[in-house]
Amino acid sequence: MNLEPEFLGKTYDDFLFRPQKGTVGSRRGVRLTGPLSRHLSLELPVVSANMDSVTGSRMAKTMGLEGGFGFIHRALSIEAQAQEVERVKRSHGYIVERPLSLSRTATIREAREFTRSHGITGILIEEEQGSGVLAGLLSNRDMPWIEGYEERRVDEFMTPVDRLRTARPGVSVEQAERLMFENRIEKLPLIDENRRILGLITKSDVILSRQRPESTKDEKGRLRVGAAIGARGDFLERAAELLSAGADALVIDIAHGHSEVMRQAVEAFRRRFADAELVCGNVGTAEGARFLADLGADGIKVGIGPGRGCRTRLETGAGVPQLQAIREAWCAVEDAVPIIADGGIRDDKDIFLALACGASTVMLGSMLSGTDEAPGRVIEDPATREKRKIYRGMTSPQAVFEALYDDANPEEIETALGTPAEGQELQVPYKGSVRDVLHRIRGHLRSAVSYAGGDTLAEVRARVVKDPMRYLIPLSEPARRESYER
Ligand code: XMP
Repeated sequence: MNLEPEFLGKTYDDFLFRPQKGTVGSRRGVRLTGPLSRHLSLELPVVSANMDSVTGSRMAKTMGLEGGFGFIHRALSIEAQAQEVERVKRSHGYIVERPLSLSRTATIREAREFTRSHGITGILIEEEQGSGVLAGLLSNRDMPWIEGYEERRVDEFMTPVDRLRTARPGVSVEQAERLMFENRIEKLPLIDENRRILGLITKSDVILSRQRPESTKDEKGRLRVGAAIGARGDFLERAAELLSAGADALVIDIAHGHSEVMRQAVEAFRRRFADAELVCGNVGTAEGARFLADLGADGIKVGIGPGRGCRTRLETGAGVPQLQAIREAWCAVEDAVPIIADGGIRDDKDIFLALACGASTVMLGSMLSGTDEAPGRVIEDPATREKRKIYRGMTSPQAVFEALYDDANPEEIETALGTPAEGQELQVPYKGSVRDVLHRIRGHLRSAVSYAGGDTLAEVRARVVKDPMRYLIPLSEPARRESYER
């Protein structure tokens, strides 16, 4: 299909959506389900950007819980990034597959440090370091809370295995729930007949998985999470570590995804990881989208230069207005490969337009960056008491500079340093929890679906995407002022 000429040079503020006869009674029931990539689907079509001021494990976890998805950024060592992925995978499944453990000779001081650094509330204790044989469980309640016990061994305080309730790995959630309730316990280690540790079920995870049916989970009830890799150097090694840490999708994220570098990277990736879910980007044209689809990408990230932390268009003159880019990409690949509209979303209404014109999800950077879950501290302006957080482009001088102090891939640092900055750092207002932002987005999206005359996003999108100009009203300058200036 060819791009409709009305989209040339156009972006979000150029259109309004023509209201259609409403069909839903209550907007609360409007489903927003849609694909993230060829094999994954989301209940909320919102993805957090793989940027170091947006997505670490905390953001990815909350995105997943809310039905969205997060890609952990890659401006950190392979090991550290894999650990971030593990944190998400370990946080909310009802079965923790590889629970953390300490040996019975560890001290209370070590145990305290361990619970703090991993954000857990109880530790499995094994007979010998690395033996994987369960000796007991040290829960928060077992941990001495008065001073003077720091150097004592954990096995003095743990509940030993012969007094612990345990189960076999095949136990169902319902059985585990009943066992925990009847025995008034909050943790149920899974072991085999030789006491080898094979998993852990916790009460809070079971409760959470019941309470949050819309969250983005894998078949084991664990939250889904993605992670970014590059296209050069040790990117395959990074991919291997991230996948073995449990990443559900990887994104090869480079500034110019319609390139020979990308082709070589995807071919090498596919030779090693034939079945891994792979998103590729960024591209901004029909040719770029077709190129990635032909390479076998499971998702296509679209956006050249619309991002708030981005200076590509200003510095190079290259780029495509974002709604045109989304539409070009969709016309090229239609629904064969889901499109992630990345960058330039400033208002909630932009999200609906992106989806109606061809995207399946949107990727947000600045809109999520001022939240508690985004990495970085809240700064307070001493004069105005205004609270803010830092948001920065990944090729901003600050981001590149800091990467030098991590053991990031030297080749990538060199490439970044050799490239003039195409990103910038800014301060964005502090916004509290990202859950509130997502709640608002969800509400506005549901209303937009209702104005569009549908009762699910999928149904509205399927209708509009085939002929969006039947539904969109191009705006004159006065109409735009009337719409958006307040
Ligand atoms: P928003 O508008 O949501 O955009 O803040 C997030 C997206 O911006 C892109 N990004 C960059 N683009 N130079 C660029 O050209 C950069 O330094 C940079 N950093 C982030 C990226 O696609 C992100 O998802």
